Amino acid sequence: MADVEWRKRVYCGKVGACPLGASLTLMGWVDAIRDHGNLIFIHLRDISGIVQVVFDPARNQATHLAACSLREEDIVCVKGDVVLRDEDRRNPIISTGDIEVYADSLICYAKSGTLPFPISEKAMIAGEEIEAGAWKVDEDLRLRFRYLDLRRPSLKELFIKRHKIVTVIREYLNALGFLEIETPVLTKSTPEGARDYLVPSRIHHGRFYALPQSPQLFKQLLMMAGFDRYYQIVRCFRDEDLRPNRQPEFTQLDMEMSFIDEEFIYRTIEELMARAASVAGVVLSVPFPRMSYKTAVDEYGTDRPDTRFAMTFEDLTKVISETSYSVFRTIIERGGVIKGICARGQAGNLSKNVLQNEYALNIVPSFGARGMTWMKFVGGQLQSNIAQFFTEREKESIVDCFNAMEGDVIMMIADESADVVNKALCSLRLHLAERLSLIKPGNFSPLWVTNFPLFEEKEGRLYSQHHPFTMPDQVDFDPQNLRMLLNLNSRAYDLVVNGEELGGGSIRIHDMDTQKKIFEALGLNEQEIREKFGFFLRALEQGAPPHGGIALGMDRMVAMLLNAPSIRDVIAFPKNRSAVCPMTQAPSRVSGEQLRELGLLDKSAEENLLEHTGIEYEKEQDRTIAADSEKISLEEVNKVAALARLRLTKEEAKAIRKDLNSVLNYVASISELDTDSIKPMSHVLPLKNVWREDKHEDSFRAGAILKHGPALEGKYFKVPRILEG
Ligand code: AMO
Repeated sequence: MADVEWRKRVYCGKVGACPLGASLTLMGWVDAIRDHGNLIFIHLRDISGIVQVVFDPARNQATHLAACSLREEDIVCVKGDVVLRDEDRRNPIISTGDIEVYADSLICYAKSGTLPFPISEKAMIAGEEIEAGAWKVDEDLRLRFRYLDLRRPSLKELFIKRHKIVTVIREYLNALGFLEIETPVLTKSTPEGARDYLVPSRIHHGRFYALPQSPQLFKQLLMMAGFDRYYQIVRCFRDEDLRPNRQPEFTQLDMEMSFIDEEFIYRTIEELMARAASVAGVVLSVPFPRMSYKTAVDEYGTDRPDTRFAMTFEDLTKVISETSYSVFRTIIERGGVIKGICARGQAGNLSKNVLQNEYALNIVPSFGARGMTWMKFVGGQLQSNIAQFFTEREKESIVDCFNAMEGDVIMMIADESADVVNKALCSLRLHLAERLSLIKPGNFSPLWVTNFPLFEEKEGRLYSQHHPFTMPDQVDFDPQNLRMLLNLNSRAYDLVVNGEELGGGSIRIHDMDTQKKIFEALGLNEQEIREKFGFFLRALEQGAPPHGGIALGMDRMVAMLLNAPSIRDVIAFPKNRSAVCPMTQAPSRVSGEQLRELGLLDKSAEENLLEHTGIEYEKEQDRTIAADSEKISLEEVNKVAALARLRLTKEEAKAIRKDLNSVLNYVASISELDTDSIKPMSHVLPLKNVWREDKHEDSFRAGAILKHGPALEGKYFKVPRILEG
């Protein structure tokens, strides 16, 4: 491209600010085309926005002719003049909708290939519907063509805002004297509790680096090195069970400070959060409320309570300890608990049928509890299917306990395990909030959760709730006294917003004696301690200042502030729900040569394979790669058939497997099909059912059709219960 072109370039979204009649050069992607025969209109899109360009043969015939062959997503350079649009052709959907550019010349830098999904999000005419955007497209397809997905302005906007949030954070911390310092990525295992991603060493066979789960130990070492205000926007890696708000690699804003206490950290983070939120137009008022771990669990059933709505738990165990209602009495006698929530004024929205058949029989059991008892306060009294089992005094006590009023609905869960009650009631509370729209959109409710127990006990062993470097609330404890240890609280804190943990940190142990006692309490012996944390303890022996820190999950924070549907939408190239990158197909196999070089394929393994199977390793690799085209196994077909209550013969299972594999292989090969001459997704024919005269004889043997149908029980189909974890 000649220099002149880019020097004169004007961003599409800025053309509205140019004077009418100005001659300018635009570069970008063809977002949409409308061919009116005599005039061709295109929406030209770049990172700043969209502007309409008009090709008029009366102005330049050759340019108009060249525009005739433009396709969506071609990359072009247009030169032309800014012209005011006629009043009736203005388009308020785009920021430059009052003007358009009349083209004098056109260069096409690149033709677009066939698109797997539509990219354009803006109609060319005000009020006109556009095709469903890529949000509606299967996410794996979007991730496979992520570079196309990222062209969409709504997605791009998330990254522009993410950049602004990160910039505001950096400016704020820099002004406070924080230094941004990088820590190693090839390192040793860090104690965050997930599994490590390991990297084998080529030079030292049999040895592995671990990718950091967080820079925890390094940032503490930086404090010992005298950098007293550190931060880093850093990638962390955790091989853990996937959840919607987790990624195997994610970004933390990691911070550590010396000679400070919790108050300093709360103040610094609250101001930081308020500034970050303002980029998204969200106002967060400071200081944030604080809640102890105990209150959070007792009243919300979780250590990350969603405080955007009330409906906190009430404990009825003592209130109705003498009840004659046998379900409750048995549970109380066995040392269990009864807790409930009150949905204010919802009697009209929660019918008896919904409460009994949906919640008590289905929804609540799916949350792990055995059932739910409900009562409605209507006509000045409690109504329920079991109201007759309670005395008038007990009913009065229940009403008092919830401060129930006309129209309220009380739901109670009882179990021998307080944990079961808390978890189920927590899920029920969130379920009701969603169903009854109790959360105001755009509402943000941050809080600090504090006073966590230092240890948790699992199968007779103690584990750190946070990590073993967290300072206890008192240091004169006996590491052999289990009861004393379980009563210790930590000086840790979590930042929770809208029921999601956005960050966590603690004041750290900075003296060797306390650290040793913690290791002893955790049951680690001298050798284990030296092996795992030797380098760190040596540093501690040299002296550490009092210090503490925190890490905020940047992906979670940005997704929440920008109201993105998932953290994957604010990560440029995320992994999917199975920890796979559909675009690069990572993780992928490596060659035998690479494994051999890394010492991961030792001679005995190769010889073993050869001796027992007669197959050489390289051939075995080829064979498994070929088998990859068989994406679905017979076991999988049979498993799905069993879930659907279908009994398949061997031949049927094989035939289904063959069909499914050919469909998957076809889909996998689609990017290589020559569909150049096919205009994508613009000629969808209306679908209608037709009677296949040639087929009906074979296809209407009812017995054959229903052969695989599910078994019946009464009026219902029998289907297996499927619980989603
Ligand atoms: P923690 O383990 O609580 O603390 O992590 C801090 C924050 O990081 C985010 N986060 C994640 N985000 C996306 N995907 C994941 N898999 C994931 N795991 C964690 C969460 C979390 O609150 N070293 C300590 C911090 C400290 O003590 O200073 C640590 O890493 O938002």
